[in-house]
Amino acid sequence: MKYKILSNKWRPQDFNHIIGHKYVIRIIKNSLDLNRIHQSWLFSGIHGTGKTTIARILAKSLNCKIGITSQPCRKCSHCLSIEKGKFLDFIELDAASKTKVEDIKSVLDTTKYPPIEGRFKIYLIDEIQMLSKHSFNALLKILEEPPKYIKFILATTHLNKIPETIISRCLHIHLPYITSKNIFNYLKKKLKKENININKETLSIISNSARGSIRNALNTLELAICSTADKMINTKNINKLLGIFNKKKIFILAENIINNNINNILNILDDAEIIGISYNNIISSLINFFHNLSIIKITISEKNYIIHKLSKYDKNTYILSKKISFKDIQIYCKILLQGEKYIKYAPNPRIGVEIILFQIYQYITEKKISNNHLLIHK
Ligand SMILES: Nc1ncnc2c1ncn2[C@@H]1O[C@H](COP(=O)(O)OP(=O)(O)O)[C@@H](O)[C@H]1O
Ligand SMILES: [Mg+2]
Ligand SMILES: [Zn+2]
Repeated sequence: MKYKILSNKWRPQDFNHIIGHKYVIRIIKNSLDLNRIHQSWLFSGIHGTGKTTIARILAKSLNCKIGITSQPCRKCSHCLSIEKGKFLDFIELDAASKTKVEDIKSVLDTTKYPPIEGRFKIYLIDEIQMLSKHSFNALLKILEEPPKYIKFILATTHLNKIPETIISRCLHIHLPYITSKNIFNYLKKKLKKENININKETLSIISNSARGSIRNALNTLELAICSTADKMINTKNINKLLGIFNKKKIFILAENIINNNINNILNILDDAEIIGISYNNIISSLINFFHNLSIIKITISEKNYIIHKLSKYDKNTYILSKKISFKDIQIYCKILLQGEKYIKYAPNPRIGVEIILFQIYQYITEKKISNNHLLIHK
């Protein structure tokens, strides 16, 4: 059998298997069941959140032989050929490769012919932000008065680049980021079925690094599986793959930042270079760490701390949280977040990270000086 990458192998084939987007799926299902179906749909959202997947299920829902339905049968010849990508009345095109006005026009010209086998002739145009101005105009013309048997499903990762005139002709549905908790639970269930061993911490690293995209998570997982021969994916493996410091190392770096020990900080950055850690990842790991510290400060009281049996790592984090004020953590987070945005302008990422960490160093140093000053004048 042909090998299928995880993201294709695990692509949901019906609405019930879509992760997240509960609200959005309810709208789509209701509109199908109530037969209130818009002529053109527009899905927006970052890559790997389900735009193409939902569009393909929608194509089945509209053309399934049992009738328009929110639960396509997946057995009739229409459903089966849509799943195989062979249905003549489902035309998928990637606007990134058809940006010229002649290209899109020749495709749109075919809208004058009714469907060959299906109830509707459906055009899925992906990445529509790539179309030229002229191509948008050609599309708009047909969106204004499409034949009854035509349905358009448009998808974009960059809604801000789509003309308002196009958006207003469509039923616009935004697919938000998938939370890392949802990604975590999804992967856990899937991996159990596949008999792949993975610990909670590793799974949580993969889910957090996916930045809201299931495709990102699946691609990382794919790499991780290929990197071990025995189907045992561990934290060390995954950190190396993603180019991120392990938890302990980030803790030590954060501790040195709080203690304002600049020499140690620079030594840790040297280590990062040797092991091949991405400097951008260091900043995002620090943001996660300090944010977590804020949460600990808000939620864990002395009483809870004694009652709960914390792991050694959590205990140390709690102890560290006592050394810094909530206000200072927010200031560090702000410096890190702003710095992350501008890191690309630095001559190289190492300098970028140093500039950001020097700002925190300067803040703490100045604070110390003014505190001493106050003490002298008391
Ligand atoms: N909401 C989701 N629920 C379940 N799997 C998803 C979801 N979004 C993405 N995926 C997974 O990621 C892959 C890519 O999704 P896709 O729909 O092509 O993303 P997009 O078109 O938004 O870039 C799918 O094959 C599927 O395995
Ligand atoms: Mg897509
Ligand atoms: Zn069917």
